[in-house]
Order: sequence, then structure tokens, then C-alpha cells
Amino acid sequence: MAGLDAVLAHIDGDFDKALERLFAVLRIKSISTDPAYAEECKRNADWHAEDLRSIGFDAASRPTKGHPIVVGHDRSAGGKTALFYGHYDVQPVDPLDLWTKDPFEPAIDTLPDGTKVIRARGSADDKGQLMAFVEACRAWKKVAGKLPIAVSILLEGEEESGGANLPGFLEANKAELKADIGLICDTNMWDPQTPAIVTMLRGLCGEEITIHAADRDLHSGFYGMAAANPNRILAKILADLYDENGRITLPGFYDGVPELPESLKKQWDTLGFTVEGFLGPIGLSIPAGEKGYSALEQTWSRPTAEINGMGGGYQGEGFKTVIPAKASAKISFRLVFDQDPHAIRKAFREHVKARVPADCKVEFKEHGAGQAIRFPDTDPAFAKCRQALSDEWGKPAVFIGGGGSIPVTHQLKQSLGMDVVLAGFGLDDDRIHSPNEKYNLESFRRGIRSWARILDALSR
Ligand code: BES
Ligand code: MN
Repeated sequence: MAGLDAVLAHIDGDFDKALERLFAVLRIKSISTDPAYAEECKRNADWHAEDLRSIGFDAASRPTKGHPIVVGHDRSAGGKTALFYGHYDVQPVDPLDLWTKDPFEPAIDTLPDGTKVIRARGSADDKGQLMAFVEACRAWKKVAGKLPIAVSILLEGEEESGGANLPGFLEANKAELKADIGLICDTNMWDPQTPAIVTMLRGLCGEEITIHAADRDLHSGFYGMAAANPNRILAKILADLYDENGRITLPGFYDGVPELPESLKKQWDTLGFTVEGFLGPIGLSIPAGEKGYSALEQTWSRPTAEINGMGGGYQGEGFKTVIPAKASAKISFRLVFDQDPHAIRKAFREHVKARVPADCKVEFKEHGAGQAIRFPDTDPAFAKCRQALSDEWGKPAVFIGGGGSIPVTHQLKQSLGMDVVLAGFGLDDDRIHSPNEKYNLESFRRGIRSWARILDALSR
């Protein structure tokens, strides 16, 4: 069987073709949250199923109540098995006027410092990252005729919109999907030179509340202060979530949140994190989170409550003296360690109800719930992946935390009992979920090479 070096050489030689294939997927408008793009999501799933079949996977796009899930297997290698997860759906593109170009017409841009990037919605989150894995498989198949280990690929189309259908799909197809190790390429490197494995991710609990007061908008002079103002009620509810030290006030919120283990604290201390390096590039300088914790801890190992959206009353040009009939807010809690999303939702709803006057109403809408996850970095598979990454990038890979959430990691652990290696090649300045999303050309090329090495390492 031809070896790793031949595969790596093939990847470099075939890179332009790999880029063309990525561009083809980036042109598909797979915005999962907007029903207007359901056909595009289906088309994207079909594209992946067809592409995987073309490299010898037994693959199909499988319908769900929402967008399809693509599953493909190539078990010709026997021995150790891995399940790779990626998501083909993307976030909406608005505000469109802030894009320098059409978000679904990918192109190579050159940054002021000379760095070449792939510009398009989904380039980093997650199409470029998932195609990096697929391209590594393609290269192994082409050069060696087979993969180093048995691989299954699972591609979701609803990660950015709640992922409602994935847990049921995993449960229903346990036997088919179970593998020795999970692999996910939907995370970042520590910095552009330093590869990383994310060993802990935060969970999420999303809530939307609407406060209803009078049965119509009112003149704020005729009714002011006498009639309940839902904006004022909402402001109180939200302000009361935090104390003066930036701690969340919900009773029981910190249950299941230990202090960071010393060993992890030590590892993180060696990363050379600075507040200026973190907040500077986004135009800020003062950490706004819980007092007594570094900004790194605030985003990796401490829980948060964030107000993602709020609205009520007149927000157009000029001025209007009005008391609105209703006001609403979208709130997300990022959870760590053993915090229970359901207990937190309950505590939040109690907090809200206690602040809504008897003549007003509150409506709650749930937006997803997932626990945090932490993997034992002592598992031999982690050491193999770490070595493979270090070999590719010429610098030791680091174990890091991650502020974001990837709900499937917890579901894979819970339903299938699998540990997951989260290795990704995104960068902090990729603008995922924002206008002008990009993925560095080097992230893609060396991402492919990294996965080729990891597949090889896992076979040993
Ligand atoms: N890929 C991101 C999360 C991510 C990025 C984690 C970089 C670690 C490093 C993912 O697609 C995402 O954005 N997830 C959402 C959660 C979802 C339930 C809406 C998030 O974290 O907000
Ligand atoms: Mn993602």
C-alpha cells in the first residue's frame, strides 16, 4: 500500500481541483434556518452523497422531518473505525450590504498582509472544514486504493438552526453509526501557526420571551407610568440576571460548575493568552465578564448569559411617544461542566414570572438545549491526533477550550458512548456567522494534509 508521503504529495498536486470542488459546494445556498432555502439544502445534501459515492463510499442523503442528513461508509480497511461529523448548512447572510461581494459566489481574496483567503458564507463554518476531511479521504483512496481505517461520514443540515432532528437520527441508527472514535472539524486553531485539539466545549440553553401588556400601543402621556410598560418590565428582568460582579443571579445557576482543575489551568497558562490580543482586534479592551476570572476562563470554562436580541416599541427614524403593547428578547446561556440546561431553563422562567405584573402576560419559546462536554485528553487516540497535527504544522499541537457549542459532540457521547477529537483549522478572524466570512487557503490545504496524517496515525 502506498504510504503517507505519496498521499501528501498527491494532495498538493490536486489542490486546485479540491478548491474547485469546495467552490461548487459554497455556491449552494444552504441556509437551514430559512424555509425559503429548503430546496438548496436538499441540493447540497445530494451533492455530498454523490461526491462521496464517487470516491467509493456507500452514501445516501437520508430524509428527516427537516433537512436531509448525509451518511456514507467506507469500511474496506477493517480494524479501527472512526465517525466523522460535519454540517453542510450555513448561517443567514444578512446584513447583505456589509459583504464586499456575493456571499454565494466564492473567490480568493488577498488580505493586506498577503494572506490568501477563500471568501464565502460557509467557507470556514463548516463547508471548507468538512471538505478538508473529504479531500483527505479522496487522496488516500486515489493513491493507496483504500483508507487507512474504516470511516463513516455524517453530514448534518440543521446545525445552525437548532439541530432538532439529529438526536433522533443518532438514536435510530446507533448500530450503523457507532465507531471507536468521533472526529469533528468545526473548531479553530490556537493561532495561525499553532494547531489545536478542543477538549472542552460549552453547552447551550436558548430562550425567547415576549412580555404582553396593554392590548394595543398607547400614548405615553395619556397612560405613562399608570399602564404597565413591557419595555420597562423586560429591562428589569434582563438587568436582574446579573449582579455587580458579573455573576448570574439565577438560583442554582452555578450548580455543577467546579473551579478549573489545576492541570488544565497550567496548560492554559502556557498558551500566552493576552486580553489585548483577544479584545484588541475587535476594538475593545476591558473584559466585561465575571470578576476574578481571566477573559480566557470567561469564554472557555465559566458559564454565561447573553442577550442576543431585544425589541419593543418604536425603533424607526425620529421619535414616537408610545408605550408598546409587547416587548421581547432572545437570551442564550452557555453552560460548562455539569450544568443542567433544563434546570437552568426552569430557573430562568421562574425569574421572569416573578417580575411580570399580574395584569400582563409572558410567553416563552424554547431554542435548544445541550450540555457542555469535556474529553479525557489522556485517551491514546488524542495523543495520535496531536502528534499528526504537530508533524504537519511543525509546532506542537495544544489542547484548548472553546467558547462555542457543537451540540452533536454531547449527543455522540450520550447516544453512542463515543469520545470525539475536535480538530479544526478555523481562525479567530474568520468572521463565522458575520459578513465576509473567510477560510484561509492554508487552513484548507494543510487541513486536508492534517486529516490525511490523522487517518494514518489512527491506523497505528
Ligand atoms: N462551528 C461553530 C462553533 C465553534 C466554532 C466552536 C469555533 C468552537 C470553535 C458552530 O457551527 C456554531 O456556531 N454553533 C452554535 C451553536 C448552535 C446551537 C446555534 C454556537 O456556538 O453558537
Ligand atoms: Mn459550525
